[in-house]
Amino acid sequence: MSRSRKQHTCVFGLGWGDEGKGKLVDLLAAGHDVVVRYNGGANAGHTVQVGAVKFALHLLPIGVLHAHAVGVIGPGVVVDPGVVAGELDELQRRGIEVGQRLKISARAHLVLPHHKVEDALNERALGEGVQIGTTGRGIGPCYADKMRRSTAVRVGDLVSEPGLAERVRTLVEQRRAMLRAMYGDAGGLEAAGVLTELDATRDRLAPYICDTTAYLREAVEAGRSLLYEGANGLLLDVNHGTYPYVTSSHTGPHGVAAGAGVPPAWVEYSVGVIKAYATRVGGGPFVTELHDATAERIRQRGREYGTTTGRPRRCGWFDAVATRYSVQLAGPDAIAVMHLDTLSGLERIGICTAYRIDGRTVTAFPGDSGLLARAEPVLEYVPGWTEELGDLRRFEDLPASAARYVERLEALLGKPVALASVGPERAQVLARGALRWAGAGGTAGKAD
Ligand code: IMP
Repeated sequence: MSRSRKQHTCVFGLGWGDEGKGKLVDLLAAGHDVVVRYNGGANAGHTVQVGAVKFALHLLPIGVLHAHAVGVIGPGVVVDPGVVAGELDELQRRGIEVGQRLKISARAHLVLPHHKVEDALNERALGEGVQIGTTGRGIGPCYADKMRRSTAVRVGDLVSEPGLAERVRTLVEQRRAMLRAMYGDAGGLEAAGVLTELDATRDRLAPYICDTTAYLREAVEAGRSLLYEGANGLLLDVNHGTYPYVTSSHTGPHGVAAGAGVPPAWVEYSVGVIKAYATRVGGGPFVTELHDATAERIRQRGREYGTTTGRPRRCGWFDAVATRYSVQLAGPDAIAVMHLDTLSGLERIGICTAYRIDGRTVTAFPGDSGLLARAEPVLEYVPGWTEELGDLRRFEDLPASAARYVERLEALLGKPVALASVGPERAQVLARGALRWAGAGGTAGKAD
């Protein structure tokens, strides 16, 4: 099928986040005009390595690293103003001028200090073993306020609500009382501190706040293409993930229309991102988790430490049961496999093709985290490869075992693998089919 680079494309994670979406968004941004964050907040950590320089962004769309691209933070995102200001400063220090290339929806919601304090106290109260293991960025409490409405503050309020300071003072006092009643402690929360932070960031954010919904419509009418940058991953989706060990937003392509403020038909092509193995950070069931030297090897070679929290990530074999579920749910057009190079040097590689739960063999992913916690993986092993893959640029050059591994993933997921990543740098990719143009560092011409 002939595909133009001008298609509106969604990149999203099929796992528990950290799949390597940042690198793929960065590559595809070269062929799109506007890069849109539609969900989550500063819990995400999207990294890309350009030569020796590593960029990690939590809230700014990674597309702002490209001088031609506009970055949009859509209505479905929860915005920590201090993080946005910090990222703008950091980019400026590194010589990247964002200027008019950033637009923040006035409809998005603000993460304020009381959300972060509440997040931390909630987690502490849950205790070991049942903690969600949040990133501590105030995501859940902010989305809860959004749903409650009366206690929410939107980005637009920063510039349009004359009595905002008084309202925020009241909200913080109420939250202090609530936290004291629930946890016997308000975590040092003070209205004065919250107001100072609000004041400090208002002027920094003001130039970027606008009606991004109208902006996107006009951009598309003018022939521009959109790239939606999904945060977190489908198994962390609030409806479809391993609830309650999930984040509080809609993470897949189904979240785009609501979170970006566009018609559903404006997702024309989607790429689901997986890692060649599985990782998870925080609490919750992880059927294929390994606790041995292989896990440590993967963690070291894959640099599996949280971009947002620095926590070591839990590592395990690829889980085809969980991933087939997310593929069937989200219906990506193609798959991108990241970190294929991380698996080099393993004698054999496990793939989980079914679960054993309470004596039964199950191939459908259960919706109950209690059942998942009791599941044992049914593993098939395929031969590994010894070669390092970092210098390869074509699928045809993969060692036979690595090629067979990719083919096995395609067969299990029922989708083509259009891109494989073989190292952290932009250029370290193998690409084919509709994503072939992305293989030349994202700068090549039309796709086939
Ligand atoms: P929250 O989004 O901070 O509330 O965290 C909820 C759960 O999602 C925790 O287990 C986090 O570790 C996990 N999580 C949230 N965002 C990401 C991400 O971008 N990568 C990996 N895990 C994430």
